[in-house]
Amino acid sequence: MNPLAESASGMPLIGAPLIGQPLNRTDGHAKVTGAAIYAAEHALPGLLHAVIVTSTIAHGRIANIDTGDAERMRGVRLAMSHHNAPALPEKGRAGAGNPPAGRVLNLLQDDQVLYNNQPVAIVVAETLEQAQDAARTVRITYDAKAAVLDFELAKADLVTPDKVQGSTPDSSRGDHDAGWRDASSRIDATYTTPVENHNPLEPHATVATWNGEHLTLFDSTQYVSGDRTAVAKTLGMSPDQVRVICPFVGGGFGSKGSTWSHVVLAAMAARAAGQPVKLVLTRPQMFGMVGHRPQTEQRLQLGAAADGRLTAVRHHVISGSAFQEPWIEPSAIVTRMLYDSDSQHTTHRLARMHYGVPTFMRAPGEASGSFALESAIDELACAARIDPIALRMQNHAEREPEKGLPWSSKSLRQCYEQGAQRFGWAQRNPEPRSMRHGDLLVGWGMATAAYPANRQAASASATILSDGSAVVCSGSQDLGTGTYTVMTQIAADALGLPLEKVRFELGDTNQPHAPVSGGSQTVASVGPAVHAAATSVRAKLIAMAIGDAASLLHGMNADEIGIEAGWLFLRTLPARREPIARLIERNGGAPIEATSETKPGDEKKQFSMHSFGAVFVEVHVDPELGTVTVPRVVGAYGIGKLMNRKTGHSQLMGGVVWGIGMALQEKTEMDRLTGRAINANLGEYHVPVNADIGDIEIIVVDEDDPYINALGAKGIGEIGITGVAAAIANAVHHATGVRVRDLPITLDKLI
Ligand code: MOS
Repeated sequence: MNPLAESASGMPLIGAPLIGQPLNRTDGHAKVTGAAIYAAEHALPGLLHAVIVTSTIAHGRIANIDTGDAERMRGVRLAMSHHNAPALPEKGRAGAGNPPAGRVLNLLQDDQVLYNNQPVAIVVAETLEQAQDAARTVRITYDAKAAVLDFELAKADLVTPDKVQGSTPDSSRGDHDAGWRDASSRIDATYTTPVENHNPLEPHATVATWNGEHLTLFDSTQYVSGDRTAVAKTLGMSPDQVRVICPFVGGGFGSKGSTWSHVVLAAMAARAAGQPVKLVLTRPQMFGMVGHRPQTEQRLQLGAAADGRLTAVRHHVISGSAFQEPWIEPSAIVTRMLYDSDSQHTTHRLARMHYGVPTFMRAPGEASGSFALESAIDELACAARIDPIALRMQNHAEREPEKGLPWSSKSLRQCYEQGAQRFGWAQRNPEPRSMRHGDLLVGWGMATAAYPANRQAASASATILSDGSAVVCSGSQDLGTGTYTVMTQIAADALGLPLEKVRFELGDTNQPHAPVSGGSQTVASVGPAVHAAATSVRAKLIAMAIGDAASLLHGMNADEIGIEAGWLFLRTLPARREPIARLIERNGGAPIEATSETKPGDEKKQFSMHSFGAVFVEVHVDPELGTVTVPRVVGAYGIGKLMNRKTGHSQLMGGVVWGIGMALQEKTEMDRLTGRAINANLGEYHVPVNADIGDIEIIVVDEDDPYINALGAKGIGEIGITGVAAAIANAVHHATGVRVRDLPITLDKLI
């Protein structure tokens, strides 16, 4: 079926806005034909290959490092360690903390080792094989010190972070002692989640090339501007001496939201070698120096009155962290806003270990936090013998509970209703082990999904060319999510041009500034800028027609003139029209251009902005083997206006798939003796494959949000993973009567 032939509502789309249509990816052809060039594919003349050598101890110092053999090998141009690495301003820490995801990097500035798999040397050669071969000959001896590699040991020395996602580490509201005492049902349970590592198919990769004092980086990043700022600061350069280019990203999920050590090391190596250098991390090297989701231990205490009303909510989070940087998994943030309750108390503490620093991983905080909270809510529903949806409805927050602000929009009730209806929740027998499918135990579980609706300032430019086509650009990123496609739709709509007449470009610091593609904010941030730039250039075009004595539209009012399919026309008399190209041609042929910056206003102070959803899952559990499958998921979401039904649904489904992986498969096994990830490969670090995934149905409820931005769009990149792990744990309990509070839910925990 032609996707253009029908809209979501079944209405014909001819002449209707492009926004919302289930359009195919505009970059799809380039991707399937291999024409899309990823970071490591940028071929430059004289390109050398770099390989990083990493530490094999978790804590201590390098006693001796001998790169002599490597340096003498054929094709080797350079071997760099802390002995010969150039001294960087502030030992390479100048970039830390700014931009927001600026990190403490390991840039061969000293002999200190703070985690296993930390960069300790870099070898550059003419071919990749020569560099790999030489890297293996680097001989290192260490003075190892005692390392904290045990979470229980780390818990003995908990640290309170200064900030948790821009908020305070602790929160308190109401009289929680009274709320706990007066409750007629109570749950006091501890939930644990493991270390997880991002595994985008495209590994982290950087090509660095110098031209005098100017550096160009082809980098796989979620934030070209942030990359520029962090690299410039770290190397003591001005940002305008650094250009970052990233037209395509093969998945990021938060791990490419920060500038990590390898990016700067590639630049250092290219400068020292005097030639461009390519550096690609191996899959095992992605388990250490580029972040992970830290382990959490979360104690939930819920008290409820006989009618299910929450009287007390306590959520205490201990997050794994690193010694070099206090990054935290902000798991209790979601608990502060999700339900109304008489009292509430949340805390966040750090358990520091000798690991690489943790980082953002799809829905950082909400993914792990919603597992604990939504499992506990389900336990409370069982204890109080209240339907899980009814219990959630009973505690539905009409206003944001912490700040008391109204919601900019909230369709959570509709999500519960439409999701339950579609799933068939009314047919559920609440008794555990009551439902069967042949020999298999059947469980139905559900959970609430939530994620903040973020937005930041962004800029875009739009240019109408003399042939009547347009180029629109913004220095944003497309992580595989659909930025190219959705921005093309937004621009084409605002310009009144057909889709194929608009080219959208992104991923270059020479373009107008855009924020990090993280926090599910790209459409909400960049979309309004694209819309504004396109609207503004359209107004210029119309003004040109009005002012042109030779135009059929001369002297008309601007609001009388429409643009469609490459033509300017009089709305009241559409036959009176002329092609855009002819108008520009007659007026000298120069392109017409406009640049716009848009940013959030005061609405953030007046409203609380979040996406919400409800996810329903069916699990089948083999009672003898303990194996769990998820044949069916229904997710219903209130996410403002959906920009593209196809890419949007895909993104939500991708989130749900990751939620299934989080629930049943994902865990980085850390060696307690060496601090090295044992399963640092895609064979043993399990993520779902097609065979693990059944039917996933996405419902996007109608939602109008007049406050969020001009497009009414909230983000959808992260909400899809939230709630899924809890819904599965709840379904597993319903199927088996066994409550698993420790992820992932593997068969050993069920037999
Ligand atoms: Mo996302 S974890 O905010 O890149």
